[in-house]
Amino acid sequence: MVDSEALWRKALYGPSGFFTRGAVPADHFRTAPLVGPELAEALLVLLDRVDFGLGRPARLDFVDVGAGGGELSATVRSMASGSLAARLAVTAVDVGPSRSVPGVRWTSSLPSSVCGLLVGHEWLDAVPCPLVTGPLSDPWLDRWWPVGAGEQAEVGAPRDAVWADAVSRVRGAALAIDYGHVLADREAGRYASGTFAAYRDGRRVEPVFDGSCDLTAHVALDACAAAAGGDWVLVSQRDALAALGMVGTVDAGVGLEWLTAAERASRIAELRAEGGLGSFGWLLHGMDVPVSSLLPPLPPWRP
Ligand SMILES: C[S@@+](CC[C@H](N)C(=O)[O-])C[C@H]1O[C@@H](n2cnc3c(N)ncnc32)[C@H](O)[C@@H]1O
Repeated sequence: MVDSEALWRKALYGPSGFFTRGAVPADHFRTAPLVGPELAEALLVLLDRVDFGLGRPARLDFVDVGAGGGELSATVRSMASGSLAARLAVTAVDVGPSRSVPGVRWTSSLPSSVCGLLVGHEWLDAVPCPLVTGPLSDPWLDRWWPVGAGEQAEVGAPRDAVWADAVSRVRGAALAIDYGHVLADREAGRYASGTFAAYRDGRRVEPVFDGSCDLTAHVALDACAAAAGGDWVLVSQRDALAALGMVGTVDAGVGLEWLTAAERASRIAELRAEGGLGSFGWLLHGMDVPVSSLLPPLPPWRP
């Protein structure tokens, strides 16, 4: 039997793998950190709430797992201000080539402990997992993605494991932001063809396991949530950004001031677009900090 997880892993992270060779999203697709500074700005609002919940410790971490080109880390570092800026330690974690980002520590493995906010932005979708065709019985599939005859699915257990491990290292909060699905829609057969896909140079292409393209699949974020456990919420990026003050209205101003506000509003609209980045899931775990102190009650995510 073909070990699809091993093939996928080698294609992305083997010696000549796609990410090992240094591919970054900026070369192949658009992710939220590339839209503009607004995602980082919202995460700094969240970080401030985490900081408050932790009693404003002498050192506060922001850890960006699966940092790619380091854009999110760089923007968080440069936008941090006041007392937080002086106490903030920004770490970018990626298994790809190390990059030089001013004020950011770059590493290939997760820190043993994190006091602050850990973010995995489009990290989990890049974690390889087995690709299967039903009918098949497997503990993870039986619980999270029942597959009928001829249906395809991805076994999310490896994502659950890495996410649970990352969250277990954190005091403060851990946040996974990704595209994905929930049990009700998987059970209803909405993903009966699976979600495994490949991208190269900004285009969706036929998946090949030769390191020439990004290989990805949607994330069963509800399964990741249950694996990591504790106090968590799973909400849409659209709602989470609004709750962190990102609504993108152009209230006033003329000339350049108006133009700047309008540009910002259009970037926020892109981050909050239904069916686009706004339909990404935000899985937020509060660790020694109640999640209710980080975000107000919001509707559950249903992409
Ligand atoms: C789709 S890219 C996202 C990059 C960036 N966060 C963004 O949104 O623009 C996924 C990244 O996760 C990294 N990655 C995958 N598994 C990892 C792991 N176990 N530890 C650290 N980085 C990992 C890959 O090398 C790749 O750079």
